[in-house]
Amino acid sequence: MDRNQDLKDRREASKLGGGEARIDRQHAQGKLTARERVTALLDEGSFNEIGQFVEHRSTSFGLDKNKIPGDGVVTGFGTIHGRLIYVFSQDFTVLGGSLSETHAEKICRVMDLAMQNGAPLIGLNDSGGARIQEGVVSLAGYADIFYRNTRASGVIPQISVIMGPCAGGAVYSPALTDFTVMVEDTSYMFVTGPNVVKTVTHEEVTSEDLGGAKAHAEKSGVNHFTAGNDIEALQQVRDLITFMPQNANEEAPSPTMFEFNKSKLETIKNILPENNTLPYDIRKVVDSVIDDNSFREVHEDFAKNIVVGFARIEGRTVGIVANQPASMAGVLDIDSSRKGARFVRFCDSFNIPLLVFEDVPGFLPGTDQEWRGIITHGAKLLYAFAEATVPRITVITRKAYGGAFDVMNSKSIGADLNFAWPTAEIAVMGAKGAAEIIFKREIAAAENSEEKWLEKEAEYAEMFANPYRAAERGIVDDVILPEETRAKVIAGFKMLENKAETLPKKKHGNIPL
Ligand code: HXC
Repeated sequence: MDRNQDLKDRREASKLGGGEARIDRQHAQGKLTARERVTALLDEGSFNEIGQFVEHRSTSFGLDKNKIPGDGVVTGFGTIHGRLIYVFSQDFTVLGGSLSETHAEKICRVMDLAMQNGAPLIGLNDSGGARIQEGVVSLAGYADIFYRNTRASGVIPQISVIMGPCAGGAVYSPALTDFTVMVEDTSYMFVTGPNVVKTVTHEEVTSEDLGGAKAHAEKSGVNHFTAGNDIEALQQVRDLITFMPQNANEEAPSPTMFEFNKSKLETIKNILPENNTLPYDIRKVVDSVIDDNSFREVHEDFAKNIVVGFARIEGRTVGIVANQPASMAGVLDIDSSRKGARFVRFCDSFNIPLLVFEDVPGFLPGTDQEWRGIITHGAKLLYAFAEATVPRITVITRKAYGGAFDVMNSKSIGADLNFAWPTAEIAVMGAKGAAEIIFKREIAAAENSEEKWLEKEAEYAEMFANPYRAAERGIVDDVILPEETRAKVIAGFKMLENKAETLPKKKHGNIPL
């Protein structure tokens, strides 16, 4: 026997996965195969496979006669833009990409290597879930993965791409990772599928409506990024990775080349409307401060009243958190607090400085919010900011009212620099509501109550609807012109480059979950 030829034949057999027919079916569904995905994700020719010949050990239900080298998952390492990355890619053509004991062992192996060597882990998920023929060992395999996802959290970046089914307990691995990318029409995630839903709640719902990319992008927030197809999803991951460091001990790479169109210094002067009750798109402010085309919005379709994402300033990654007056007046509610808090914690875990743009009228009132726990959820955002030790700068563009002012990276909760535009209004509440409360008797006693109210509102606004009371007290560090914002932010982050702050010694904090 020609042993070298034998090896080549074995490699070819492994690469065929579940065979031509199943590969054709995968393609007919608009999906790439597990290997094609790895090739599209990583730099050309950089993939090194580990465990190509691993086979399952099960003998139940005739599985001993159905062994395919690799056992339904392609694992290994390679590079993205020259940086080391660990990857696993489930192969739906092999027993539906189902997770066996050995399939889980292969995933755990790359997870362990990623942790030991301090490099990001990317999981490409396309699986019918636990391998039904194997029973409890496959459940234990999932638990082995969950355990590692949790232990790796905050140590290395973890990204999950959902490129097919992801159901039952299997959803919890992506949920434990930092970011989830879902492919439209071909991927779904749910704890229980449409059939179980129908039996239990009598609701009729399709897989797509229940757990497709759109549902999770807009309603649940489980999905951070939506892609039109596999290639787009993998390109998004390649791009996303450029904003992150390899691990929590490093900083994100800083490309030396960046562009900033100086005309944006003119644009930024006219973004805010004359009337302070009218909306505007905070993303225009963000774009006018950061390097050209550098904003990558996270959770674009979820809780639109807060905008979060990565950007670059003079080539360096920053995390943006901004109230969005164009959606629900930028009010903080349960979903926006959760969204903001999660992003802040990612940035803080991975040494990404935070730049906050604030225009917030307060927290959303109402029984729905109170009964669903706005107190606890709002506290998440407060906790996340207060806990963060990365450089932190806030720019107050307009409203900064009430508790929301404190929460949105105020100096008192540890922000390093707070700037306010001349249009900033920093007060306990809006002038109208404030006048109604503190001048209640005067207004009631007046001959013309309406007129009195307006007069008192103007008095309160004169006093507080500006940044100067806060500046007098040092609660903001400086009042700046909009067109000065970029320069001030650049100088601020440069000044904070060597910031070294450590939290009090503890096992871990108890964030209000
Ligand atoms: C073993 C499986 C499998 C599984 C699919 N296959 N899921 N084999 N274990 N979990 C196999 C099929 O037998 C089939 O083999 C091939 O994969 C393709 O499956 P199809 O059904 O033909 O594909 P499709 O019509 O596209 O449907 C995909 C599917 C469906 C919706 C995922 O296969 C399905 O419902 N599978 C079962 C899902 C499930 O209940 N899993 C367990 C969930 S519980 P052949 O040989 O015909 O190609 C779970 C718990 C995890 O995962 C707990 C963690 C804590």
